[in-house]
Amino acid sequence: MRSHVITEGSTAVSEIVVGRSLAAAISDAAAQGRTKAAVLCQPSTVHLAEAFATDLRSVGMDVTGYTLPDGEEAKQLSVVETVYRMLNERSFTRNDVVLGVGGGALTDVTGFIAATYLRGLSAMYVTTTLLGAVDAAIGGKTAVNVDGKNLAGVFSHPEKVFIDIDVLDALPNDLKVQGAAEAIKTGFIADMEIANAFDAGISNVDLESVVNKAVAVKVAVVNDDSKEHGRRAILNYGHTVGHAIEVATPCSHGEAVSIGMVAAGAASASLLGFGGADHQRALLSSIGLPVAAGVNVKSSQLRALIAMDKKRDSSGLRMVLLERFESPVVVSVDDATVRTAFDAIGLDS
Ligand SMILES: NC(=O)c1ccc[n+]([C@@H]2O[C@H](COP(=O)([O-])OP(=O)(O)OC[C@H]3O[C@@H](n4cnc5c(N)ncnc54)[C@H](O)[C@@H]3O)[C@@H](O)[C@H]2O)c1
Ligand SMILES: [Zn+2]
Repeated sequence: MRSHVITEGSTAVSEIVVGRSLAAAISDAAAQGRTKAAVLCQPSTVHLAEAFATDLRSVGMDVTGYTLPDGEEAKQLSVVETVYRMLNERSFTRNDVVLGVGGGALTDVTGFIAATYLRGLSAMYVTTTLLGAVDAAIGGKTAVNVDGKNLAGVFSHPEKVFIDIDVLDALPNDLKVQGAAEAIKTGFIADMEIANAFDAGISNVDLESVVNKAVAVKVAVVNDDSKEHGRRAILNYGHTVGHAIEVATPCSHGEAVSIGMVAAGAASASLLGFGGADHQRALLSSIGLPVAAGVNVKSSQLRALIAMDKKRDSSGLRMVLLERFESPVVVSVDDATVRTAFDAIGLDS
């Protein structure tokens, strides 16, 4: 079992525990000094949530379980309101805890609920997808969707995050592949050992090692810049084009990020002389991630979506690019570079 700590100044604000067979550690942490727990889950994690609820009841806690709709359907203000009412009916106080058991969508909304109900009670996450483990559950961003994805949210760290490698090992292949995109992204920006681990193939990769390394990178970046004023932006490598692909196509977030990384890799090669773009494309492709946008995507549509990207400022479009492996920079890109990036993912510009 390994523990990673998020700090604000010299104060520890959140602990991320990575290990196996974590049930007892999870129940102990949730029950510590509390009488009530709300256990939120998604349809795929009901069995895990029920086991935690049983453990918590056995130590005398008053436990309320609630299954939220799956995926993005949970990240809605109407769902948030339903849970607020449930917490109110059961007289939850600031001393109680909300335990979110699920992937990134479930932990994003759990964090939002916990941060806002009574102006904040404790949240704990048991993150059950690889994407959640290496990205969504770490760093204190909570969100719901309102027209735009993640339009409303607050920065608020859960007290604890638990990552049970036994759960991740048992994930279906497609969810491992989607999470691998974010893990490989973390590798290219900060620690190539993470990316190189996937040379073994998606079914043979040592997830415990990959998750510990990726969490360590994200924790270090977040500790440096918790509210994304500067360096935290490097975590958005592959996301400028990736977010646009996610909106324009049925791709999952991980798949869209893979395509976005191929685009960013090509832009990095042309603008900064980065020599690893081909290697990146081959690695992503070898584990089953898409590396081209597909025939139904129009470059004009992607351009319009990218223009709305959050990182665009008055000086023009800015992207996270790589000067070298593990050496990201945020730079302004000109139109020729955007064309090169689009070309690399099979788009006419
Ligand atoms: N807060 C952040 O910093 C941050 C960062 C990246 C992504 N995100 C968010 O994370 C979400 C994407 O993450 P995700 O893919 O984990 O989302 P998700 O919660 O929608 O999970 C994907 C699917 O996997 C299923 N699932 C979860 N655990 C499972 C298990 N153990 N076995 C089988 N199926 C399981 C879910 O039910 C769902 O259908 C998006 O909403 C995105 O905006 C947040
Ligand atoms: Zn992402």
